[in-house]
Amino acid sequence: MTTFDLDGCLRCSACELAATRHKVVVGRGNPVAPLMLIGEAPGAQEDQSGVPFKGRSGQALDRLLMEAGFNVDEDIYICNAVKCRPPSNRRPKKNELAACRPWLDMQIALVNPAVIVLTGATAVEALLGTKAAMTQLRGKWQSWQGRSVMPIFHPAYLLRHAQTKEGGPVELTRQDLLAVRTRLCER
Ligand code: URA
Ligand code: SF4
Repeated sequence: MTTFDLDGCLRCSACELAATRHKVVVGRGNPVAPLMLIGEAPGAQEDQSGVPFKGRSGQALDRLLMEAGFNVDEDIYICNAVKCRPPSNRRPKKNELAACRPWLDMQIALVNPAVIVLTGATAVEALLGTKAAMTQLRGKWQSWQGRSVMPIFHPAYLLRHAQTKEGGPVELTRQDLLAVRTRLCER
């Protein structure tokens, strides 16, 4: 039986982000969901609340997930590649991604999702080690340790390109989430 050392995670100081964080942001949603979504890192609101995807990006994400037919409390477990906020919301460094990886691996082992959604290039780099543009990665199924993996645009990127032009990033993300839903239904 896999367990998650929650106390250990909440007290973790394995990288320099520990010095400036307020709260360690572990995860939200259903810890035995068939779908896991991994973002980049906590922002200001997440750092204050301890809840991932709590701010504007999170609201945009929740809306898209609901539109795709998901119940965000029951159908998904949501977390980030690193659990502590990088100062000024800079990208997590390679050594920080590496330091936090054991926590992510423990979460994946515990949730045991059939499908993993990676939002944005940092999440893709953190899990798969691949560095490429999201315009190339998104919408294409990958496989990791027997799990289906779908990279999608980060919701912060979608907020910057919110005009719902046909074929724009918001519409493409809707398509990607519908593909995820279809895959989960086919299981
Ligand atoms: N909030 C999060 O928790 N993660 C992100 O990647 C962005 C905002
Ligand atoms: Fe530990 Fe991860 Fe926080 Fe770094 S970001 S202190 S590795 S929990």
